[in-house]
Amino acid sequence: MASDSLSITDNRTGKTYEVPIKYGTFPLYGASIRGADLKNIKVSEEDFGLMSFDPSFLNSASCQSAITFIDGERGILRYRGYPIEQLAEQSNYLEVAYLLLHGALPNKAQYDAWVHDITYHTIVHENMKEVFHGFHYDAHPMPMLISTLAALSTFYPASRNVMDEGVRMLQIYRLLGKVITLAAMAYRHTQGLPYVMPDNDLSYVGNFMNMLWRKAECRYNPNPVLERALDVLFILHADHEQNCSTNAMRVVASSQSDPYCSAAAAAAALYGPLHGGANEAVLTMLRQIGSKDKVPQFIKDVKDRKALLMGFGHRVYKNYDPRAKVIKRLADEVFDVTGKNPLIELAVELERIALQDDFFVSRKLFPNVDFYSGIIYEAMGMPSEYFTVVFAVPRMAGWLAQWQEMILDTEQKIARPRQVYTGVAIRDYEPIEKRSAK
Ligand code: CMC
Repeated sequence: MASDSLSITDNRTGKTYEVPIKYGTFPLYGASIRGADLKNIKVSEEDFGLMSFDPSFLNSASCQSAITFIDGERGILRYRGYPIEQLAEQSNYLEVAYLLLHGALPNKAQYDAWVHDITYHTIVHENMKEVFHGFHYDAHPMPMLISTLAALSTFYPASRNVMDEGVRMLQIYRLLGKVITLAAMAYRHTQGLPYVMPDNDLSYVGNFMNMLWRKAECRYNPNPVLERALDVLFILHADHEQNCSTNAMRVVASSQSDPYCSAAAAAAALYGPLHGGANEAVLTMLRQIGSKDKVPQFIKDVKDRKALLMGFGHRVYKNYDPRAKVIKRLADEVFDVTGKNPLIELAVELERIALQDDFFVSRKLFPNVDFYSGIIYEAMGMPSEYFTVVFAVPRMAGWLAQWQEMILDTEQKIARPRQVYTGVAIRDYEPIEKRSAK
C-alpha cells in the first residue's frame, strides 16, 4: 500500500478502497485526493457512487494553478513565487500583469513590447459611446463596466476562437488596454462629463487618471505620488487565486465562451458586497457609524448579528491580509497630497476595538484588502460607487492569467458540478382544475 494514500472503509459494505494523495508545491498546504476517486465507492453496481458534498467550495480545489499562492494562516501572498510586498515596493502593474500571464518577469525588450501592445489597444470603437449613452444618468458604474466588457465581444467576433494562441493573445492586449478606457467612461458618464481619449504617452495608470480626471487642460499631468499609489493598489489587486470572480471567469470560459463575456461574468461576481463590492460597503458602514464614540455600539450590533463588519474576514486569510498592511501604509503618502480623509481615524479605531474583541479574535477576522482601499480612493476624489470598478480594472490581469491557464490545462473540461437531489422522487401530472389551493 502506497504511504501517500488514504484507505477508506465503507461501513455499508465492509470494502476498503485505496485513494492516492496528490501534492502541490507545498506538501503541507494543498494535499488532496481526487473527488472522482470517490465515485468508485458504491454499495451496488447500480449505485452512482459517492460524491463529496461541499457547498460554496469550502474545501475543494477546482484546479491546479501555478499563478498565485496564498497561505491564509500566515498571511502570505505571492504571485508566481514573488512576495506581494516585494512586487508592491519594486514593480509596477503592467510588469506584474506580464508576470501573471507569462510566468516570469520580462526582460527590457519583452517589457517594452508588452507595454506598447497594451497601450496601443486602449481606444474603444466609437459605437461604444452609444452603448454608454443608453445608460441612465445615475447608473451604478459597475453594471456599466460589466455590460460594456460583454459588449466588446460584439466588436471582436473572432475572439470566440479561444483555442488559437494568437487570438487569445490579441484579446489579452485588448482587454488589458480597454478596461481602463471603459472604466473611465463609466465614471465620466456618472459625472456628465465628456469622454477623454487615451493619451498613450502616459503610463498605464497615468493614462487611466487622465481619462478619469482631465478637464479643459491641453495635457493631463498625473500627480506622481497618486500615480504611484494607484499603481501599487493595482499590483495588490491583480490576482488572488480561486476567489468568487476568478472562479466565475474559469467556469464561464470553460464552455469556450469568448473572453469578453467571461470577463463580464467575472466582473459581475466581483460586484457583490461580499467580494469586491465590500470596498464601497466599508465607506457606507463608516458613514453610518459616523463618529468614534459610536464604534462600541456598532461592534455590539455586529456581535448581535445585526450587521457585518465590512472589510473584515476572509475565506482564506485567518491572519492580517498582507494587502491591507501595504494599503494602510500607503494611505499616509496619499493623504500628504490630498489631505487626510477623516474616515481613516474612524477605520483605525474600528480595527483597534475589533482586534481586541473575542468575537473577532476567536473567528480570526482581520481587515482585508477592502477595509482601507476605499478611504484612499475617496481621498483621491472617487465616489464610493466607483471603488469596485477600481478593483475590477487591475483584477483583469488575474482573470486573464487564470483563463489562459485553464484553457491550456488538458485536465480541465466544461465546469459542471454535481448535486445531492433532495426533491420529490416522482409524481404524476395533475390538470390545473384538480390542483388544491396549497
Ligand atoms: N463581520 C462579522 N462577522 C463575520 C464577518 C464580518 N465581516 N466575516 C465573517 N464573520 C463571522 C461569520 O458570521 C461566521 O461566524 P459563525 O461561525 O459564528 O457563524 C464566521 O465569522 C466565519 O465566517 P463565514 O461567513 O463562514 O466565512 P466565509 O469564508 O463564508 O466568508 C467573507 C468570507 C469575506 C464573505 C466574510 O468574512 C464577509 O462577509 N466579510 C465582509 C465582506 C468583505 O469584507 N468582503 C471582502 C472580502 S476580501 C476581498 C475579496 O477578495 O473579495
